Amino acid sequence: MDCAAEDVKCVALTFDDGPSRSTGELLDMLENAGVLATFFVTGQSVEARPETLQRMQELGMEVGVHGWDHVDMRRLGPEQQRSQLDRSAEAVLDAGLSAPVWYRPAYGEHDATTRSLGWPLVLWDVDTLDWKHRDPQRVVAEAMAGIRPGSIVLMHDLHASTVAAVPELLERLQATGYTPVTVSTLLGAPEPGRVYSRG
Ligand code: NI
Repeated sequence: MDCAAEDVKCVALTFDDGPSRSTGELLDMLENAGVLATFFVTGQSVEARPETLQRMQELGMEVGVHGWDHVDMRRLGPEQQRSQLDRSAEAVLDAGLSAPVWYRPAYGEHDATTRSLGWPLVLWDVDTLDWKHRDPQRVVAEAMAGIRPGSIVLMHDLHASTVAAVPELLERLQATGYTPVTVSTLLGAPEPGRVYSRG
């Protein structure tokens, strides 16, 4: 998929904070629809559910890191920040996956130290606010109201209400000519220290 082509409308669906008990059902939905998405996982959740990570890899999903325990990086010194990323990447490797290359900081918060650690930072331009309202209809509505070609949509596979929204969201995307892609497909080769919010 060439997202730079004129007649292509790419959108990257991203799911944070997992894997959780809801992630397996989400993977079933994505597999049934033939859709790839990106998961920004916390190291501690990976350690708890390595088999969910392995299934992500088997399906061709993209896995990025989201820190070890979802701390706001601005509260940490350089060594602690580095450890958040190293430990998360290690957990992904320990689960049997290839090395993650994309990083989404918890809360989207970062400072100069965070940006100096050698990772590309992936934020978003469409926030579904799914963690707050827990309403599948509103997840779909917020996503569809905010997207344009090249958008990165923020969701959380921690919540069953978000997972419940995905079949309709995928239908609406297809009906409006959008192609869901991974972050790598949307953004291309990662540039360390760069902060991305859309393609
Ligand atoms: Ni998060």
